[in-house]
This record gives sequence, C-alpha cells and structure tokens, in this order.
Amino acid sequence: MTDASAPLSFYDEIGGHETFATLVAAFYRGVADDEVLRPMYPEEDLGPAEERLLMFLEQYWGGPTTYSQRRGHPRLRMRHAPFHVNPEARDRWLAHMRAAVDELELSPLHDTTLWDYLQRAAHAMVNTFEPSGIGPAAGSRPAAGPDLTVRPATGPARP
Ligand code: HEM
Repeated sequence: MTDASAPLSFYDEIGGHETFATLVAAFYRGVADDEVLRPMYPEEDLGPAEERLLMFLEQYWGGPTTYSQRRGHPRLRMRHAPFHVNPEARDRWLAHMRAAVDELELSPLHDTTLWDYLQRAAHAMVNTFEPSGIGPAAGSRPAAGPDLTVRPATGPARP
C-alpha cells in the first residue's frame, strides 16, 4: 500500500514508468540515426542499452531500484571510459535528449529539474577532448566534482 503521507518522488510526480519509458524510447530513436553516436553502441540492437538507461534514470529519480539490483553501483564515469565521449558526442547526446524531454511536455519546473540534471551529467561524462575516433578514450582522467549518479536525499526523511 502507498503511504499517503509520504512525499511523491520526482519519478511519481512526472508520471512514473510510462513517462521514463517514453523519454528513453524517444532518445534512442535519435541515437539510432546519429552517425557519431550509433557506432559507439556495442550491440547491434539498441534495446538492451535503452533498458539500462531506463532503469538507471528511474532509480535516480526515486523509482524502482532495479538498476542496482541488476548492474550494481552505477559508476557511470567508469562505465563510459571505453567510449570516446568528447564534446561533440556530449552535444549530440544532449540534443537527442532535449528532443526526447520536449516530447514529455512537462511543467516548466519539472522540465528544468530534469534538464539541468541531464546537462550536468552529460558534461561530467566527457572523458576526452580528442576530436574523433571510436574506442577506448586514451588519457581519460577521473572526474573531479560531485558524484552525479546518486541523488542526494532531499525533503523530509521517510519513517
Ligand atoms: C555525454 C554523452 C554520452 C555518451 C556518448 C554515452 C554513450 C554511452 C554508450 C556508448 C553506452 C554503452 C551502451 C550500453 O551497452 O549500455 C552507454 C551506457 C550507459 N550510459 Fe551513457 N553516454 C553519455 C552520457 C550519459 C549520461 C549523461 C548518462 C546518465 C544520466 C548515461 C547513462 C548511461 C547508462 C546508465 C549506461 C549503461 C551502464 C551499464 O549499466 O552498463 N550516459 N552510454
């Protein structure tokens, strides 16, 4: 049973699973047609990557914790190390994500909250400034700054 006194999570506020599934599906439609990003994805089928991003975002925003149950700690910087995430890749990633967020037609506050996070996370994922190339990012260094993969607790503690 849901606890009526518990504050709604951001996940619930914006429509739960359906909203996140719509977001991620729209995002991967963009990736599928992107000549820089598409070759970076190791699997022929983007479905499993879509599922991993969906589970991660749902968990981050207060939904089910399936991501960690299946994949362990996110360690997203580390998991992106094999890929050539330069500013161009980041900007393309963000452009597809922006189009996907637009499809959700969220309230301005929800839109800003989600978009602000996605931008910060994408900037944190850059691991090379080399212009091109696919494969391990040579000379990547660990990010300085906050861990953007675990959301800090806000609001009143739940009993
Ligand atoms: C900045 C540009 C980015 C690029 C080019 C990029 C690219 C990739 C690639 C190629 C993969 C491997 C696909 C797979 O097998 O899952 C991946 C995985 C993943 N990415 Fe990104 N990514 C970017 C940013 C982000 C951001 C900002 C987030 C989170 C907000 C994110 C979350 C994830 C997750 C959760 C996975 C799966 C990790 C796992 O459990 O293995 N990515 N990304």
